[in-house]
Amino acid sequence: MVAIYGRFLYQGEIIEAGIEIEDGIIKEIKKTIEGEKIDGLILPAAIDVHVHFRDFDESEKETIESGSLSALYGGNCLVVDQPNSKPFVDSYEVYKRRMEVAEKKSYVDYRLNLGLTIANAEKIHETVKKIEEEYRIPAIGEIFLQHDNPSYQIPYDTLAEVRRKISKILTLHAEDPTLISDERPPQAEIEAVKRCLELGNFHFCHISTYDSAILISDSDSTFEITPHHLLLNSDASSEFLRVNPPLRSKVEVEMLFNALQLADVLASDHAPHTLEDKKDGAPGFPGVETMYPLMVNLMRKGLLGIRTLTNLIAVNPARIFGFEKYGGIEVGNYANFAVFNLKAVSKIKAERLHTKAGWTPFENFEAVFPERVYLKGELALLNGEVLIEPGIRKKEEVEEVGEEGDKDEG
Ligand code: DOR
Ligand code: ZN
Repeated sequence: MVAIYGRFLYQGEIIEAGIEIEDGIIKEIKKTIEGEKIDGLILPAAIDVHVHFRDFDESEKETIESGSLSALYGGNCLVVDQPNSKPFVDSYEVYKRRMEVAEKKSYVDYRLNLGLTIANAEKIHETVKKIEEEYRIPAIGEIFLQHDNPSYQIPYDTLAEVRRKISKILTLHAEDPTLISDERPPQAEIEAVKRCLELGNFHFCHISTYDSAILISDSDSTFEITPHHLLLNSDASSEFLRVNPPLRSKVEVEMLFNALQLADVLASDHAPHTLEDKKDGAPGFPGVETMYPLMVNLMRKGLLGIRTLTNLIAVNPARIFGFEKYGGIEVGNYANFAVFNLKAVSKIKAERLHTKAGWTPFENFEAVFPERVYLKGELALLNGEVLIEPGIRKKEEVEEVGEEGDKDEG
């Protein structure tokens, strides 16, 4: 049994108390619990439900190991990887191969979405069933309504059919293929959102316009906003700032920021490319390491409340995607914490990040990086030093198997 003592948000109030941890789980929260005194603000570690960790045939851009290390430095305890890797994750075999790498190489807990293609749509139910004998699939997606590769571009009628057939969460990259053109205007997103809402419930990835946010928040569907759509706009143009959906106008960004309360989830859409690929116009930004630090900085400046932040970055993603024992700081949840010293403001520098991308759209932005990260009660990161080995899932299994035999440490 271990215990820490410090300041954190508990049942809607910021309190100072002790947190008793047993087998990685929060056992008790009480003022009278004595434990190691932690300086700074203890927040729940983040869940990033939208990352692209590449690996395999694109390991020059990122690997599960480098991406998850970047995630750890950014205060994340769990990531959801997207299936548009090479090879594309559209079958049990590819799914399993990726999971096996993650089991050995990932620094943080790792889940993987299953991809939808024209070819696997008809039998998607069977593929899900087979994978779920071994693994838990958070969702099908990111489903593309537009894609340069025709097999990954899903027409509305296929989407409608899959929605009818299967109860799994479907996560969508909503940009209408007929309205996209070179500019990928806001209307391409708004129209796609409208059409999809007529088909049923979805989780919408990276919503970039106020109108889409309003439409979705009036429905039973859920949506993400990324830090880049909140903090960057289309005024500055360079091939490095290419991303899909694109950065929007300053006015649109301000409106989206004001709609942040309506969002369900903050997610990074961490989409690393090499510098060379960026120069060639590849869309996407690395972001898993900078999401929480940028948002904590906004909180420090009074632009974002602590409740909104923790809901968007930990509580809601856990609830929506059914990640049991993840979420806020509650008895019964995993002791996954990120500790921030709100006075330790620094400037983001690409050279200090751990993604293979080698650049960031947030260069020189103010941020507050976590000084400590606890994963299931274990101190995994302390003042920039990693204290754990990769291979988190193995540890989960040891915990489950060793539940009764384990001895307390102190
Ligand atoms: O900008 C993007 N990059 N948008 C996407 O939807 C995909 C992503 C990637 O995988 O590079
Ligand atoms: Zn994505």
